[in-house]
Amino acid sequence: MMEKISSLAKRRGFIYPDSEIYGGYQGFWDYGPLGVELKNNIKRQWWKSMVYNREDIVGMDTSIIMNPVVWEKSGHLKAFTDPMVECRECHKRFKEEDKKSHEHDDWTEPKIFNLLTEVLLGTTEPKEKAYLRGEITQGVFTNFENVVASSRVKIPFGIAQIGKAFRNEITPGNFTFRSREFEQMELEYFVKPDEAESKKIFENWKEQRINWYESLGMTAKKLRFQDHKDKEKAHYAKYATDIQYEAPFGWSEFEGIHHRGDFDLKNHGLSYLDQETQEKYIPWVIETSGGVDRATLFFLIDAYYEDGERVILKLHPKLAPIKVAVFPLLSNKPDLVKKAKWLFGKLKIAIPPVAWDDRGNIGKRYFSQDEIGTPWCVTVDFQTLEDETVTIRDRDTAKQERVEIDKLSEWFSAKLGEK
Ligand code: GAP
Repeated sequence: MMEKISSLAKRRGFIYPDSEIYGGYQGFWDYGPLGVELKNNIKRQWWKSMVYNREDIVGMDTSIIMNPVVWEKSGHLKAFTDPMVECRECHKRFKEEDKKSHEHDDWTEPKIFNLLTEVLLGTTEPKEKAYLRGEITQGVFTNFENVVASSRVKIPFGIAQIGKAFRNEITPGNFTFRSREFEQMELEYFVKPDEAESKKIFENWKEQRINWYESLGMTAKKLRFQDHKDKEKAHYAKYATDIQYEAPFGWSEFEGIHHRGDFDLKNHGLSYLDQETQEKYIPWVIETSGGVDRATLFFLIDAYYEDGERVILKLHPKLAPIKVAVFPLLSNKPDLVKKAKWLFGKLKIAIPPVAWDDRGNIGKRYFSQDEIGTPWCVTVDFQTLEDETVTIRDRDTAKQERVEIDKLSEWFSAKLGEK
């Protein structure tokens, strides 16, 4: 299954190995013309549900490289680690939990390995050591008082952010699942310090997040929560739950919901003043931290269907990289091509991106669009020239419907749930 997904991803322009012409680079991936659309759609839907549809959450975009003191205070320099073992026979190094994937079984004792990626900055030697952020979160915490002072937020409120994070993973693998560079979409939700109330908010966010994946078409029975045992918890977490997907390589985490308590704000020496009661306190944080690349991978896997020779990506229309494909019934009839080109131009403005295809026969064009998840194909035929109607063919049912050109934008908006 993973072979099929990665070969489709490469062949159709979703995901390529990074620097492939030089043999690739382990743990790095590039998103192609369709992959960037899919990933952007996921991020856009997330931002909509987290920021635009709410009154208590604002957005941010913070820097990837921060003052190195941040990582000392946040505990990452000490505790952002994995146990690493080395095979005594071939000297390859593994994350301890990945030992079983190796053919030999003679290991060194585990050593603690820090996952932060180092960078060297400045012009004088020795250059200053800084870090690529290992989680996007710290920029939100260090700006906590800036956001409170410059916007009208009041506790409880949240700050949402999407951006790149970097981890020097010991064993990257399972296609994009464990990469060294990846994107996160995170919410830090600040609440009053109160055990019962914060637990309620934590439970509420768990439900909202799993529902969000389901609302975009992920199969409910392939999703589950998995609570962290004490030894699995990150250094900042009071308690935590993962959202897992049943991937071909087993149940796998792709979003973490963490109760971070006052760990971060306290370590950065930050607090909150309630303007009404004049009460000063350190808020607690409930965090939802999703991986954009893992979500992209699992949406792809979940959408993948085979029907004989035919491959169909049943992506939710809101996520589909191309919304509509436009075809002239025959490519050698100038009247049909002209009309179809005109319609293509119109739809490109109304509901982008739109694909054009006039190669081969209609069957082959459907086949090609199904494989990349295009929900609708519009064909301009001879009847169109007479009555200004076209056929719309549905990816999942293969049923065709005749619709007036004037009503197309409305038809698609309704299907996309935008009207
Ligand atoms: N701020 C909290 C945080 O970073 P995490 O559980 O370490 O929590 C959150 O990471 C999410 O980031 C994970 O659920 C996963 O989706 C994504 N992620 C983490 N490491 C990753 C990696 N090496 N490759 C791809 N995605 C990763």
